Amino acid sequence: MKKIIILNGPNLNLLGIREPEVYGIDTLRDLEDLCHQKAYSLNMKVDFRQTNHEGEMIEWVQEARGIYEGMIINAAAWTHTSLALHDALKIVDMPIIEVHLSNPKERETFRHFSYVELVAVHGIAGKGPEGYTEAIEKLAEILSK
Ligand code: DQA
Repeated sequence: MKKIIILNGPNLNLLGIREPEVYGIDTLRDLEDLCHQKAYSLNMKVDFRQTNHEGEMIEWVQEARGIYEGMIINAAAWTHTSLALHDALKIVDMPIIEVHLSNPKERETFRHFSYVELVAVHGIAGKGPEGYTEAIEKLAEILSK
């Protein structure tokens, strides 16, 4: 069974309450359940996490090396701001898929640049929770090669 990690950045703990017109009504727990189901159907195991603390996120990224075979990350606002997260992602040595519920490239210009995109093998945006299941499928495909 392949082990993968799904990391979620700041404010995603408030999914369902936070700007539902942008992010939908599903909660982070709903998203987590969906990911576990999808991964199980593909014979994969998911470690699903969220943090509002940039240092904690960077530590999780660093520690992922050697434990997981692939990573899916919605870095939320750190996508657009964190060179430190970018540097950490560069060291992980596994395929990284960038995911966003909304499509940042179709929103405010300050969301157009992504530090994560530069180190990701694939990106999915604007598909809501389905973007996460699509990312798991993509990771399964990459890891089977
Ligand atoms: C987001 C998009 C980011 O621009 C924003 O800061 C988020 C969520 C998304 O999933 O659509 O917090 O990553």
